[in-house]
Amino acid sequence: MAAEFPAKFSAEFSGRLLAWWDRHGRKDLPWQQQRSAYRVWVSEIMLQQTQVTTVIPYFERFCRRFPGIQDLADASLDEVLSLWAGLGYYARARNLHRAARICRDQYNDELPDTLEALQSLPGIGRSTAAAILSQAHNQAHAILDGNVKRWLTRHRGIHGWPGKTAVLRELWQAAEALLPGRRPPDYTQAQMDLGATVCLRRKPKCGACPVSDDCYALQNDCIEQLPERRNAKPIPQRETAITIARDKHGRILLQRRPPTGIWGGLWSLPEIGPDDCAEQLGLRGKSEHVLAPFQHTFSHFRLLLQPYLLECAETATAVRSGTDLQWFAPSEWRQLGLPQPIKKLLNDLENS
Ligand code: ADE
Repeated sequence: MAAEFPAKFSAEFSGRLLAWWDRHGRKDLPWQQQRSAYRVWVSEIMLQQTQVTTVIPYFERFCRRFPGIQDLADASLDEVLSLWAGLGYYARARNLHRAARICRDQYNDELPDTLEALQSLPGIGRSTAAAILSQAHNQAHAILDGNVKRWLTRHRGIHGWPGKTAVLRELWQAAEALLPGRRPPDYTQAQMDLGATVCLRRKPKCGACPVSDDCYALQNDCIEQLPERRNAKPIPQRETAITIARDKHGRILLQRRPPTGIWGGLWSLPEIGPDDCAEQLGLRGKSEHVLAPFQHTFSHFRLLLQPYLLECAETATAVRSGTDLQWFAPSEWRQLGLPQPIKKLLNDLENS
């Protein structure tokens, strides 16, 4: 249960938060300049699970190449993915592209401006829709991203794992109860800034917090315990072999991954060992080398990758065109949106 708070709490809370933001908040983020629904949308999608400093160069490159919704809708998915490569969570890019096409075809090249219509687009949930409408259209809506969940559970004393439906419902109610009618874009940004710069996961800066006077967690000495974690389980580990088949011209055999799952839709190395690779693909190997294994951590598991190098005796012709397999020269694969660890592996091999 959340702690009780007085009727005037909401206005008073937002007043303190906004006064703090006026002095200390971030006002020079690229999506705060030339603000449009499209730019805010792109930024909000990139900022899901990714830090501001990582996002900024991607955002700028993306908006330079696709300045508006129509440019994005008319682009190929491959090009969108290649600009996304390295940001991770590629479903975000695929959804962004699909949603842009829906806006082009059904909304006259505009993002819709209601919560309901926005949430019907791929990749836009309730909090993202609210963040877009408040920042781009001056509408007052509560948001609830990871940063907000953290300070809200602490400030209001909300127990239980925030992934649980009942806890989530309580969080939304608390966020709505605090929502002011004024300055929607600033209030949205202030909430994010409070989580990102003051109410940190570890060692929060309570001395700098504008709402510490009535913070439940500070008063009850349970900052470290909130938000509550789901019964922590060890991250599972998976192992896989990958083969770098290289022909005598230095071209590499790549395979497009299925649309869903890790690295969905990206070109990558075939996820099989060199013997299976040679046999299944009809390649004749000249030599095989075992390369150093490495690991890559995803949000819910760790992947241990064992790479092999298969030098092919001649120009391989076994791979038919029109399949999901294709040979790429270095100048070609560098242009693709390869997963970051795969690109690094191929670059290291080129430079060795
Ligand atoms: N995370 C999500 N949206 C954000 C924004 N507008 N500014 C900073 N961090 C964010």
